[in-house]
Amino acid sequence: MIWVSGWRLAAAVSEAGGLGLLGAGSMKPEVLRAHIRKLRQATTKAFGVNLPLLYKHMDACIDVVLEEEVPILFSSAGSPAAVAERLRAAGRIHVHVVAAVRQAQKCEDLGLDAVVCEGVEAGGHNAPQGTTSLCLIPQIADAVDLPVIAAGGIADGRAMAAALALGAQAVQVGTRFAVCAESSAHKAYKQAVVAAGDRATVLALSPVTPVRLIKNPFALRALDAERSGASVDELRALLGHGRGRAAIFCGDVREGEIEAGQISGLIDDVPKAHEIVERLMEGYQRSLSTLNQLSH
Ligand SMILES: Cc1cc2nc3c(=O)[nH]c(=O)nc-3n(C[C@H](O)[C@H](O)[C@H](O)COP(=O)(O)O)c2cc1C
Repeated sequence: MIWVSGWRLAAAVSEAGGLGLLGAGSMKPEVLRAHIRKLRQATTKAFGVNLPLLYKHMDACIDVVLEEEVPILFSSAGSPAAVAERLRAAGRIHVHVVAAVRQAQKCEDLGLDAVVCEGVEAGGHNAPQGTTSLCLIPQIADAVDLPVIAAGGIADGRAMAAALALGAQAVQVGTRFAVCAESSAHKAYKQAVVAAGDRATVLALSPVTPVRLIKNPFALRALDAERSGASVDELRALLGHGRGRAAIFCGDVREGEIEAGQISGLIDDVPKAHEIVERLMEGYQRSLSTLNQLSH
């Protein structure tokens, strides 16, 4: 996650038994290299890099991923075709984030290793015609033979059990980890998510680049502009540059983009990453027992 997943968070997640991902979309190539090296010093466990393919430093970041021998790349926001061949030739695991069955099938045709199936509940950038995780996971699981990693709305073990029941093999957890001790997000961002209720987020800026945000003065202005028929150029002008960084990294929770998922309403503390992983696993086991009891 941009502005959130630096080496500290990725290392903490990998050390706790998950697969930590570095969010390269907010890192210049040499910053990414430095994070990869620090991450390697902090853990011997497996980790990966996430790279939004529309990012202007994408090619140079892929070079860094290959040079630094990162074993796993998660790509998003763009066509994976452009990088699939390079990653396969280098023997790397390539996973791509999709929000529709057709996109998952394309990943399979390209020979990718897995897909992240991201529902419209998810925090951050999103699909223009979003489908909920509940509907998307089983449709993608039925349509492809690839492992499916469910994302969007998963912050505890109940949701993890549900995602696996729907056909996923793993889960990707976003907003919950954005609000933990090792996340590099600003304190004010974390507090905004903790304070958020079940109806706090909105999918804004759909004609430009749909993004799920916690409602604040900027998000409400963007919504108003959209509803009153603002053109794409007008919306781009309203968005300007650097609002994600402003809210997430610098703490401007009035005028920045507070990227966070619908599950924010369930998040009410700022634990360490390992506690989140432990709670996920305990909650998952509890859910399985509950389901088991219900079936007798
Ligand atoms: C602050 C923030 C930044 C994110 N940045 C990225 C990113 O750079 N690349 C990406 O593929 N997904 C990004 N995401 C999406 C997450 O990787 C994940 O798929 C999503 O948050 C899952 O939904 P959840 O928020 O309901 O857990 C981001 C999400 C958040 C909340």
